[in-house]
Formats: sequence, C-alpha cells, structure tokens
Amino acid sequence: MNSPTILAIESSCDDTGAAILSQGNILSNVVMGQQAHRLLGGVVPELASRDHQRKVTLAVEEALIRAKIHMGQLDAIAVTNGPGLLGSLLVGLAFAKGLALALDKPLIAVDHLDAHVLAHFIGPRSPQFPFLCLLVSGGHTQLVLVRKPLCHEVLGATIDDAAGEAFDKGAKCMGLPYPGGPEIDRLAKQGNPLAFSFKFPKVQGYHYSFSGLKTALLYFLQAQQREDKDFIKNNLNDLCASWQKTIGDYLMTKLEMAVRDHGIQHLGIAGGVAANSYLRQKVVELGRQQGIETYVPAMEYCVDNAAMIAQVAGYKYGQAQFAPLTIEPYTRNLPKSGVMDL
Ligand code: KG4
Ligand code: ZN
Repeated sequence: MNSPTILAIESSCDDTGAAILSQGNILSNVVMGQQAHRLLGGVVPELASRDHQRKVTLAVEEALIRAKIHMGQLDAIAVTNGPGLLGSLLVGLAFAKGLALALDKPLIAVDHLDAHVLAHFIGPRSPQFPFLCLLVSGGHTQLVLVRKPLCHEVLGATIDDAAGEAFDKGAKCMGLPYPGGPEIDRLAKQGNPLAFSFKFPKVQGYHYSFSGLKTALLYFLQAQQREDKDFIKNNLNDLCASWQKTIGDYLMTKLEMAVRDHGIQHLGIAGGVAANSYLRQKVVELGRQQGIETYVPAMEYCVDNAAMIAQVAGYKYGQAQFAPLTIEPYTRNLPKSGVMDL
C-alpha cells in the first residue's frame, strides 16, 4: 500500500491542475490557468467551471504524458472535493469519479487547504512535526498547527477577506490589474513602505480581519483624490510599498504570537501570497531572530496545483482512506479540531 502511482486533479478555483505521484515523487505537475478573469477583474465562477470542463481532459493527458505513465499503471485517482467554487469542484470531481469507475481504482478525496499545508513535503527540505503553517492565498488565510500529516489544528483564520483578497482589492482601488498581489509586490520595490500607514484591525486570538483595512485604504484614497486627482498616480510606488507592509506586518503579528505561545521550532508559509517578497523576508527574519527553521514550498507548489493534492493522496492511500463514488463537494472550510468554523 505504500508507494502508489496516483493521478490527482485540482479544479477548486480558476486553475485546472493534474499531477502524477509515483514512488513518493511528483513526476508531473500541469497547471492550466484562465486568462478571462484577469480581464474581468476577478474570478467569475460560471466562466471558471466552463473552462475547467474544456481543460480537464487536456491537463490529465498532459500530466500522464509528461510523467511517462499510462492509465493502466494508476493505483488511485485523487481529486479536490472542497473548499472552493461549487461548479468548478463538480467538474473535477465528476471527471475523477468517472475515471475511477472506468479503471476500477479507488477514489481519494482531498481537502484543498490540507493540500496547501502539506505541499511543504514535496521536495528535498521539509519541516519536522509539529510545525506551524501560515496559509495565505486568494481565498484563505489560516494559521495551522500541523501535528502530523492530516492532523491539522486551525489556530486562527480570517473572519472575512483573505490576505490575497486584501492585495487584490487594494490593487483594484489603485487601478492595478487582477491579480493585484504580484503587481503590488513589483511596484513596492521602488516605493517607501513608511510613506502611509493603516491601523491594524483588532480581532481576538489568532484570527484576522482584512475587510476593514481595505475600506480604510479606499476612504484614504478617496479623501486624497479630492485634494489631488492624480494622487494615486503620483504616489503609486509608495502606496504599494505601504499597503504591502501593512498586510505583511499584520500577518506577522498573529504569526509571532502563535510561534511564541506554542514553542514553535519549524515554521512554514504556503499559498499564493507566500510569493510575496516582503512577507518572505519577514518570516526569514523571524526565523533568524528566534532560531527557528523556516520553509516555503517551491512557487509551483504554493499556487494552486495538483501536485499538492497528489501529495495528500499519497498519505491517504497509505491509510486506505478512500472515498465512495457518492461523495459530494463542499464550498466552505471544514471545521478542524474543535476550532470554530469561520
Ligand atoms: O494560492 P493561489 O494561487 O490561489 C488561491 O487559492 O487563491 O493564490 C492567489 C493569490 C492572489 O490573491 C494573488 O494576488 C496572490 O496570491 N499573490 C500575491 C503574490 N503572488 C500571488 N500576493 C502578494 N504578493 C505576491 N507576490
Ligand atoms: Zn488555493
């Protein structure tokens, strides 16, 4: 049961992914993005599911070709069954069920957030258990204490927008294209992070809130534009640097609390926002100051991808955790270890 060959499919949001895991190694990791959302300023669920429908077969074929694996060699089919956009999840799930049925192989259902966290175990350098993971993406912001694979306790989470959304919505307020995170990161390099400051929201425990911050930015920009209609254009780099610092420092406040309270020795960041250069720098600095080992998965495993789904499926296969063909997708986060479902 230990070194299976697994095809994994990911379609929870706007990236269609397929990957092959074999003998514990990722042999291929195909991600097909969707450009339409870029032009429309955000993910449009109906368009996303239709595009998955067009791409899922191509992604799977490509993953098999790149891995030099044929269908007959597969031991199981894995798929993301939540959280995510319902229509998008249904495409991947229906495809995976059909394939599992046709090949008479087990189906493995994988939680997308577990996969982001366990992406740390793809590649040569992995954290030791227990480790703390700051999961930051366009849809999720969580502080997760990982005691062992699939034994994850969510210590805190956002009560409204995700950190990636704060980047994206902030960028939109400044007239930058979607997704705004990479744009802000790029422009911030020429800006002064101390030029403008925004107060951190007060939220209990390890939880976060980003929607008030975004509103504060919006009102600030509107007020400044009443004085100078070119305020954004004239201060764009400083605005980006200050906004990036605000989000990064706010994320670090709760992260540092959790590190201290839980005596953390191994710390990781995962999800698309883990690409942010300021956040990465802050996490590495914290590691140096506190003598903590820090980890960031390779970028292709931080953004949405099927390799991370395959990685989790490998653990589940070892424990014979298979899903019935009647399994349904879910759109919201699963509550983990008695922590409230936010
Ligand atoms: O994990 P991901 O690819 O998809 C989701 O599951 O959401 O994350 C996408 C998010 C977007 O909000 C994007 O703006 C953000 O990650 N992002 C960044 C950077 N690169 C991607 N945010 C800040 N700085 C970056 N360099
Ligand atoms: Zn994701």
